[in-house]
Amino acid sequence: MQRSPLSRFTTLGVGGECEVWTVGDHAQLAEAMEAPYRILGGGSNLVVADEGVPERVIRLGGEFAETDLTPNPHLGTDELLVSGWVGGGVPLPGLLRKLQRLGYSNLEGTVGIPAQLGGAIWMNAGTRFGEAFDGLHSLEIVSPQGTRVVTPADLPWSYRDSGIPRNHIVTRARLKLGCSTPEAVQAKMDAADLARKGQPKNRTPGCAFKNPTSPGGERLGAGKLIDEAGLKGARVGNAMIAPEHANFIVNLGGASAADVHALLALIRSKVSTELELEYELWP
Ligand code: FAD
Ligand code: EPU
Repeated sequence: MQRSPLSRFTTLGVGGECEVWTVGDHAQLAEAMEAPYRILGGGSNLVVADEGVPERVIRLGGEFAETDLTPNPHLGTDELLVSGWVGGGVPLPGLLRKLQRLGYSNLEGTVGIPAQLGGAIWMNAGTRFGEAFDGLHSLEIVSPQGTRVVTPADLPWSYRDSGIPRNHIVTRARLKLGCSTPEAVQAKMDAADLARKGQPKNRTPGCAFKNPTSPGGERLGAGKLIDEAGLKGARVGNAMIAPEHANFIVNLGGASAADVHALLALIRSKVSTELELEYELWP
């Protein structure tokens, strides 16, 4: 255990000091879970309070950061192969590079998402080109009630939502992959990358709000709605609504969580469509 400012572990670069428990196996994880806790992934969807959080913050390392892509011959089919276990603490970008080199498809639509595998699964991170649940065979989930292995069919997952309860920890997953070629996988990644060209390069936790659905069932763009409200470039302290894409809040350097909260409140006061937060606010 060490005390660290969570600003070190978040892409936004905001967050006060907390007790951080980095665990490398199930015994260490069980010990860390003996008191109230939160689970931290890549910190790429988090706005952590300037005072930090009182709970233990658990990070997955050791065996939870290992990758076994060896196909399991008992679980695959002619068209799909199933990998060995991949740890929930494995960074998604590096995993996708390995899959591309092997010519394994299904997860390439998530390219550009700076998550850990467990965090990407927990919120079913995705893009217009695919989402985390496209490439999952089964998951190991640890909670105070014990350890269980589930398949996607056991979960009520949907857009940006796995249906896994908060603080139930995705410790590892088996991937369900198609056999393709490195070139074909790369071509799909290039298309998904291209769709990101208009996103800001500053420190950020990604899109602030989920894209809402209209009463007619059509998916609307939260960014477009915030842009139409005239909020691009609006600034509180050192946080700003990105001029490049209005659904991103960026840290211009030295922003506080309070600055970000104020911008979220401003957006909600100016946009009449109800917007559901995509960020996770700690606490
Ligand atoms: P964290 O931010 O650390 O945590 C987020 C939530 O997941 C928390 O509630 C945490 O407790 C929980 N969690 C983390 N790890 C686990 C685990 N092992 N088990 C259970 N729960 C866990 N998102 C998209 O969907 N699509 C995008 O295109 C996209 N683009 C982005 C671009 C940028 C530049 C940035 C900074 C973010 C972007 N995001 C995007 C947002 C973010 O990457 C995703 O929400 C991602 O899934 C967060 O994963 P994480 O590991 O960083 O989780
Ligand atoms: N638009 C505007 N103004 C803006 C932003 C967007 O008019 O300020 C318009 C664009 O011109 C476009 C439409 O809105 O016509 C959609 O924009 P974009 O293509 O950028 O896609 P998005 O719906 O805003 C979604 C995801 C992103 C993902 C991209 C690319 C959500 C909330 N956002 O953005 O995911 O990277 O598609 O696939 O679903 C995230 O979830 O954190 C995230 C970054």
